[in-house]
Amino acid sequence: MATNPTPRHDTVSPEQDESQPDQQGAVVWFTGLSGSGKSTIARAVEERLTAVGKACYVLDGDVVRAGLCADLDFSPDDRIENIRRVAHVAALMADAGLLALCAFISPYCAGRDAARALLSPRRFFEVLVNCPLAECESRDVKGLYRKARAGKIEAFTGIDAPYEPPLLAELILDTTTQSVAESAEAVMKMLRDADIISD
Ligand code: ADX
Repeated sequence: MATNPTPRHDTVSPEQDESQPDQQGAVVWFTGLSGSGKSTIARAVEERLTAVGKACYVLDGDVVRAGLCADLDFSPDDRIENIRRVAHVAALMADAGLLALCAFISPYCAGRDAARALLSPRRFFEVLVNCPLAECESRDVKGLYRKARAGKIEAFTGIDAPYEPPLLAELILDTTTQSVAESAEAVMKMLRDADIISD
């Protein structure tokens, strides 16, 4: 299956894009267990980016699986395809100058690495939203862990489906000790340090 970025068809060269620092797009990819806080943190980052005038958009499992990926389930193959599609959408958004904030379990290293490979170096930021299974399970915001333990949902990540944490994430958040605001600020600092947003 092709993994190359979609070729550009616009009339603006990458050099012209680069002369417009405010238009530099990027992808922030939040990965972690269900209930770890990925989407909540992505939304808090979205608020902060919007406040400083940076165009951004949150993509998460709930949004994408309601439409673009509505035909996919949680089998290994379908999770791979889910992440492949999202990675390409995010890369297109970044190409258009947006900051794409992607919050997906994205359980396989290979899928996240393939998403990274679609972007130039320093335009893809992998953020591990670290939270132990026991804590995610005790939060059980959507009641899905209870259902999974009761055998009503099969192949639930962390219970009877795998999660491969990144070995080299740009940022690791610990949502058992950091508040949502602290996590969002850490992401903003990462983006400032990388000159994706100005001070
Ligand atoms: S991924 O594995 O393909 O990256 P994605 O992030 O899109 O998953 O969707 C995860 C969300 O789907 C979870 O937060 C949860 O609400 C819901 N979900 C439903 N079934 C499962 C399952 N079997 N495993 C994990 N999440 C599930």
